[in-house]
Amino acid sequence: MQIKTIIEPFKIKTVEPIFMTTEEERKVFLKNAHYNPFLLTSEQVLIDFLTDSGTSAMSANQWSGIMNGDESYAGAKSWKRFEKTINDLTNYPFILPTHQGRAAERILYGHLGGKGKIFLSNTHFDTTRANIEFSGATAIDCLTPEATDTSLELPFKGNLDTKKLVQNIEKFGKENIASVILTVTNNSGGGQPVSMENAKEVSKICKNYGILFILDACRIAENSFFIHEREKGFGDKTYKQIVQEMFSLADGCVMSAKKDGLANIGGFIALRDKELADACTNLLIITEGYTTYGGLAGRDMEAIAIGLEEVTEPDYLKYRIRSTAYLGEKINKLGVPIMLPVGGHAVYVDAKKLYPQIPVDEYPGQALVCELYLKGGIRCVEIGSVMFGKYDENGKLIPAPMELVRLAIPRRVYTQSHIDYVIEVFEEILRTKNKARGLKIIQEPKFLRHFTSYFEQN
Ligand code: F0G
Repeated sequence: MQIKTIIEPFKIKTVEPIFMTTEEERKVFLKNAHYNPFLLTSEQVLIDFLTDSGTSAMSANQWSGIMNGDESYAGAKSWKRFEKTINDLTNYPFILPTHQGRAAERILYGHLGGKGKIFLSNTHFDTTRANIEFSGATAIDCLTPEATDTSLELPFKGNLDTKKLVQNIEKFGKENIASVILTVTNNSGGGQPVSMENAKEVSKICKNYGILFILDACRIAENSFFIHEREKGFGDKTYKQIVQEMFSLADGCVMSAKKDGLANIGGFIALRDKELADACTNLLIITEGYTTYGGLAGRDMEAIAIGLEEVTEPDYLKYRIRSTAYLGEKINKLGVPIMLPVGGHAVYVDAKKLYPQIPVDEYPGQALVCELYLKGGIRCVEIGSVMFGKYDENGKLIPAPMELVRLAIPRRVYTQSHIDYVIEVFEEILRTKNKARGLKIIQEPKFLRHFTSYFEQN
């Protein structure tokens, strides 16, 4: 008999307590946090779906790697292991360790960017966009129109729209395109995967125009699972081979190791071109550290190297993708509108559809974020007009294309009963959905406003 239930492919060795709270207590906590869950303390949270970044539970193997970390300033054996593992996956010769993904972005895009430069991507993640704009350059998303229809079930909704890509290259001139960035999976576009075919097309276009092609690879293992399942010709390949093939199409990558590196901190830049690597190395030494540790301790490099090997293991990836799909399928069945199909690291709720009574300039996504915290102590993040909205010259909101709420699932952290609890909270969210209220922003910074803005309930 074939047992169909997919179980967590691990036993729990160390546990961390969750502090129970009541709705009454959470009302006070949320008010004091100005209706922005980023400003809550973790002890005030029951289920933390704020991010899958840096929140993974490490394996016993990774913890033993931590003890083996070589903290030598130069040429540590942990660096050699880190370099070899990344080289084996990417086949890029130049590897620059950074303390996390955005440090890699600041170095690479800061160097490539500047006034008049254009970056093109399926969707720039918020830190990617912020680093590009901070350099004076412009970031343009080229997502396919289908991608913003949350109910449309297509296999690769993270794909970059190659027509829009070519149009933008022609419009701005190839000499002004600093690079094309393919984000796999497409985090801000709903955690949707990118097909190998699309990556090949993008690669071809970049080669034809002589434009640098960079992968934002922080969830490339999860992306490989979808290619294995959904794309013709990949069912017999290993996840690692698929990852390697995708890297082979690009000129380099930035990667936050806090996602598919299964580590709590870390990142890197990996490049083919020596001249570009040299320029980045200069910046690395100024702000991150010497070339063989960058922004990392030796023990971090050990944990990342081991994590990058564990992340393409079939049992792990099957459990990972299945457990995300479990949450998405169950709440969708209850009637919660979500981004379909469910992506790899998160379930995205379509808050505009859930709360049609709340206009976009009253942030329906933020309203749901607050409701989930109040009703269930669940913390998650708005990915909509709070995160990506801009103002026109009259101060009117230019809304984001979608009003999503992301329930990002930390890797190897929560069990099925935690997820069942979340599903029950959604039943309550549906029962009380007509009572949900919008919010207004009363204080905001210039960049990345979702982190620190203060809100008031209308
Ligand atoms: N690129 C993508 C696609 C990301 O999702 C992130 C981080 C980064 C770059 C930056 O990496 O955090 O190590 O500096 N995403 C986190 C998230 C923060 O919650 O999705 P970092």
